[in-house]
Amino acid sequence: AGWRPEWRLKLFCLLLASSLSLAEEQTCTHRGDLEDAQLIKKGDIMLGGVFSFHSSWRNSQDDYEQKPRQLQCTSLNFRDFQFAQAMLFAIEEINNSSDLLPGVTLGYKMYDACGFIARSVKVALTLLNGNDIEALPADACTRPAQVQVIMGETSSSPSAAIATAVGPFHIPMQISHFSTCACLSDKTKYPSFLRTIPSDYYQSRALAHLVKHLGWTWIGAVRSNDDYGNNGMATFTDTAEQLGICLEYSVSFFRTDPPDKIHKIIEVIKSSNSKVVVAFLSHMDLDVLLNEFSVNNLTGYQWVGTEGWMFDSQIAAMDKNRILDGAIGLSIPKAHVSGLREFMFNVKPLNSSNSELFTQLWEALFSCKFKQSNSAEIQKKCTGEEDITTVENSFTDMSLMPIFYNVYKGVYAVAHALHEILNCNKTCDINVQLDPYTILQHLQRIHFKTKEGDEVYFNENGDPPAKYEIINWQRSDHGILNFAAVGLYDASLPADKQLNVKIGSIVWAKNSLQLPVSVCSEKCPPGTQKVLQKGRPVCCFDCIRCAEGEISNSTDSVTCVRCPLESWSNENRTACIKKEAEFLSYKEIMGSLLTAASLFGTCVTVAVAVIFIKYRKTPLVRANNSELSFLLLFSLKLCFLCSLTFIGQPSEWSCMLRHTAFGITFVLCISCVLGKTIVVLMAFKATLPGRNVMKWFGPTQQRVSVLGFTLIQVIICILWLSISPPFPSKNFKEFKDKIILECSLGSAVGFWAVLGYIGLLAMLCFICAFLARKLPDNFNEAKFITFSMLIFCAVWITFIPAYVSSPGKFSVAVEIFAILASSFGLLFCIFIPKCYIMLLKPEKNTKKNMMGK
Ligand SMILES: *[C@@H]1O[C@H](CO)[C@@H](O)[C@H](O)[C@H]1NC(C)=O
Ligand SMILES: *[C@@H]1O[C@H](CO)[C@@H](O)[C@H](O)[C@H]1NC(C)=O
Ligand SMILES: *[C@@H]1O[C@H](CO)[C@@H](O)[C@H](O)[C@H]1NC(C)=O
Ligand SMILES: *[C@@H]1O[C@H](CO)[C@@H](O)[C@H](O)[C@H]1NC(C)=O
Ligand SMILES: *[C@@H]1O[C@H](CO)[C@@H](O)[C@H](O)[C@H]1NC(C)=O
Ligand SMILES: *[C@@H]1O[C@H](CO)[C@@H](O)[C@H](O)[C@H]1NC(C)=O
Ligand SMILES: *[C@@H]1O[C@H](CO)[C@@H](O)[C@H](O)[C@H]1NC(C)=O
Repeated sequence: AGWRPEWRLKLFCLLLASSLSLAEEQTCTHRGDLEDAQLIKKGDIMLGGVFSFHSSWRNSQDDYEQKPRQLQCTSLNFRDFQFAQAMLFAIEEINNSSDLLPGVTLGYKMYDACGFIARSVKVALTLLNGNDIEALPADACTRPAQVQVIMGETSSSPSAAIATAVGPFHIPMQISHFSTCACLSDKTKYPSFLRTIPSDYYQSRALAHLVKHLGWTWIGAVRSNDDYGNNGMATFTDTAEQLGICLEYSVSFFRTDPPDKIHKIIEVIKSSNSKVVVAFLSHMDLDVLLNEFSVNNLTGYQWVGTEGWMFDSQIAAMDKNRILDGAIGLSIPKAHVSGLREFMFNVKPLNSSNSELFTQLWEALFSCKFKQSNSAEIQKKCTGEEDITTVENSFTDMSLMPIFYNVYKGVYAVAHALHEILNCNKTCDINVQLDPYTILQHLQRIHFKTKEGDEVYFNENGDPPAKYEIINWQRSDHGILNFAAVGLYDASLPADKQLNVKIGSIVWAKNSLQLPVSVCSEKCPPGTQKVLQKGRPVCCFDCIRCAEGEISNSTDSVTCVRCPLESWSNENRTACIKKEAEFLSYKEIMGSLLTAASLFGTCVTVAVAVIFIKYRKTPLVRANNSELSFLLLFSLKLCFLCSLTFIGQPSEWSCMLRHTAFGITFVLCISCVLGKTIVVLMAFKATLPGRNVMKWFGPTQQRVSVLGFTLIQVIICILWLSISPPFPSKNFKEFKDKIILECSLGSAVGFWAVLGYIGLLAMLCFICAFLARKLPDNFNEAKFITFSMLIFCAVWITFIPAYVSSPGKFSVAVEIFAILASSFGLLFCIFIPKCYIMLLKPEKNTKKNMMGK
């Protein structure tokens, strides 16, 4: 039940009244009715117990004219009788044992709180003061506390009330077996409260981790509107948020809420698109909800539950429409206490002091009456000899054994603490003055093993280590519900090992073996990135394909990563692959064709040279100053060969070689042609009378000028290479997915100086040849030179735009093509006509013929 403000007020008044009464009166008398213990047995050391043997009460209207009547408790609650039995069992076991507290007997005193918070506080104070009928001494106003420890209460809210009332005095200690509210861990509010059931703090976190583990990120939640549900849900929500789980809705409910509240909840659940509902409900609230869910056919949802109802066989029995089938959730680990079941089935010892309560119990257990009432219905008459093994009800149901075990552990913890305090070794020192604060200190440090092998200790908040079993509601073929254990949660382990679920053995909602999916958006596959949807929770997103050159290699990645410079995304954007390196190689068709052309040119040049050597004595060769011709042929050969340096992967050497070899050979080549042209011009001038120009441009001058022109280029090249030589480089800009391996110029000035110088010579050569074209020379050489220079210039002028606009390796190809084309131009125009005459028209190759021109 909720921890309502009005109870706090009542409690305060109660405390105030008792302190006032002490101050006023000389002798000690009691206010109000004396309470009668329901179960009592004397011992050397007394333990108190507060249980709700009744779960409800009859509201009586006070008229303020006579003394208020005693609280009328109703609805016998077998569960708390079981807890009381567990406590008796532990006490008797300790009493029987010769190891623990030898020679000391434990006694007990138990009260019925009727599930009523104010009464819980009253009986707690009664235990504290001993103001019961039996133990009232006539004179003493000051006495030690009657009991050292209170075992109980069952629910969180009454426990909190008792802890608030007695906690500040540290007397007595309180140990609860079933109060899970995380609020009770607050030691500033409840300094003397301990418990043997883990705090909901752990349960909420465990639930969130479980939900995350099962891949559900879009869920709904229903909670009890009390300490249990609200506190538990708050922790769950916090943890879930951290784990990236989104709550589509979170509604609260209390069993006394009006029916339209339930209908609203059903509407919310039905209109949602999440398939998983987390129910942080106490079994009493779920009871009410379940009825309405059945009526409204609310099936098909995957329920996730708390220890509040997950292992409650009464809820399971109620669920006729199988709404909760397949539910998965936490429960206190199954336990077994040997001998407890047999002990419990022996009801007779409960008939110790309050025979009226016992009679009620007996009558309820066996549905009989000792005395027939006057009412019409005739009931079976009790004989007092009924056999408990023949009946089946919640008293004989042992499904709450883990909780009985908690009671048992609590009693043992106290016994072990006392054992230490009394310095027990064979015998105990019974004269030690017991002080609850000392007991509390010892209890917090206690660490022992129960006979079942479980360790018992408390952390600094007075909570035991959190350990939960994960159970799954599995319906067998015969319709019998089975709470199957499918995993474990242990908060004492390292974070990554805490949760351990066997997903394979779970049967899900709708009796399916397939793990249900409850997400707002499907996972983003690798190659895409998450983009949140505006105005919706973080679990709702779109998957956007990564851009070119970016990848994501995991599912649900938030960003795409840009690939390193030298690599590029693959088609699926899932990995970076190395960019293809591009250069003109010998292996590809274009490269091999150009190589072949270059080699062919070389061969043709060699062949022409051979022919010239063979016919070197003929007038045709002799007339055409053979020295320059052979030099030209040699340089042409070099021109053809230098194109090969452009093919293949650029290296430091090939880069330096390329342009310089090209520049020097071409200059050599053109200066030879220039020499020839000048010779033609000079020869003509020489024919004019009175001049002997030939003297000025004889073979020596020719050699010197060719050498001189070439030397200038060599100097330019040396300067270029020494100041800023070309080097191999990688071009990433041209293509996105390819690297172009190329030669950087180093210095553009050097490059253009080399080209410019070639151009200059070519122009000079062209002009000279043009001037000489009409001149009658021997075999019209000037005309062919003009023609070849035309081709040369045309090729190189078209080269520039083609070179600039060709991408990647094609620019290199264009350059090679220009080299080859201009070389072939020179070769064919200057030498082929002569070869033609030498080989096929030898009759023209005579001195006469030459001179005839
Ligand atoms: C404890 O044992 C003694 C005898 O060993 C017995 O007299 C006493 O009644 C027992 N007390 C309880 C609470 O079982
Ligand atoms: C305690 O000892 C008595 C007598 O030996 C025995 O009958 C009883 O079952 C024992 N109780 C427990 C809880 O072991
Ligand atoms: C409930 O479900 C059953 C079968 O699934 C169907 O026959 C029935 O009409 C449903 N009732 C309501 C109220 O939707
Ligand atoms: C309970 O004990 C009283 C006296 O001790 C006895 O008269 C009564 O019959 C007992 N009740 C039962 C149900 O055995
Ligand atoms: C118990 O007493 C014996 C002798 O009386 C002694 O040897 C033993 O160490 C003591 N044990 C403890 C735990 O004090
Ligand atoms: C994903 O990419 C990162 C770096 O880009 C790399 O370190 C990691 O190994 C990759 N993971 C997989 C599964 O490929
Ligand atoms: C890309 O994705 C398609 C379809 O998912 C798959 O068939 C293909 O193998 C993938 N390619 C690469 C390179 O991963």
